[in-house]
Amino acid sequence: MSRLAYVNGRYVRLAEAAVSIQDRAFQFGDGVYEVCQVRGGALIDETRHLARLEASLAALRIAAPVGPAALRRILREVVARNRVADGLAYIQISRGVARRDHGFPVGAVAPSLVVSAKSIDPRLGEANASRGVSVVSLPDERWSQPHIKTLQLLPNVLAKQAAREAGAYEAWLVDSGGFVTEGASTNAWIVAEDGALVTRPADRAILRGVTRSTLLDAAAREGFSVQERPFSLEEAYRAREAFFSSATTIAMPVVAIDGRRIGDGRPGPLTLALRRKFHDVAERS
Ligand code: PDD
Repeated sequence: MSRLAYVNGRYVRLAEAAVSIQDRAFQFGDGVYEVCQVRGGALIDETRHLARLEASLAALRIAAPVGPAALRRILREVVARNRVADGLAYIQISRGVARRDHGFPVGAVAPSLVVSAKSIDPRLGEANASRGVSVVSLPDERWSQPHIKTLQLLPNVLAKQAAREAGAYEAWLVDSGGFVTEGASTNAWIVAEDGALVTRPADRAILRGVTRSTLLDAAAREGFSVQERPFSLEEAYRAREAFFSSATTIAMPVVAIDGRRIGDGRPGPLTLALRRKFHDVAERS
């Protein structure tokens, strides 16, 4: 069965799904996006993803192309038409199509909306989680507003590629003070030497991950000690456990950072407990 995408009001075969070369996403990265997990045919944490999408649009002063109820319908339609039981749904909104000029288009320009979905075999993530993965650290070279989920991802792309070329799964980005901000496409966590679960506060230096928020809920429910504070790369090297989180990875155990073994070099018990509990706490809709 061929895959379909929603593009500006129409469901079209993926091979034919296209936007104009004058779309501002194509020319400037002038837009925002969301990635939502699909599990057992249900959307995971859709409400949080749509709330963040609204905040990203507001930050860039892009009007929502459709209302929230319509967007929820389109998401379901795309997931169903692609027969995705387990996988991801992707939403992208740009400022629209206009003659190339850096400033916002003058006059009424409709924002572009693209929604797609793909299946992913959940056994792949489980296999990685059972072994644990490695990360490498790199300087955080992004702009000053990574808390907005924009389409401009070049530093993230380059960091992810550098990690892969180093044989690692993810890059952890480090600020000028030596503190870990987040991963190229994930939030970073450690279990510190005192046993506390530590993750950077969702300030303007990181994206407020939806998975991060739900894992914090899960940790509270389990009664784990949690500290939202910056942690340095040096502290991460000494951590009992480390992991990263995103809609695509849930809580993924990290067993090595820059080639240094974390804990006993195996996925940590607290990380695995959070990974198991995640779907008990997350919204399914
Ligand atoms: N990435 N930090 C960054 C820079 C991200 O790009 C992401 C998500 C996260 C985790 O956010 P969430 O838990 O809401 O997925 C943190 C998505 C998955 C992506 O770009 O594919």
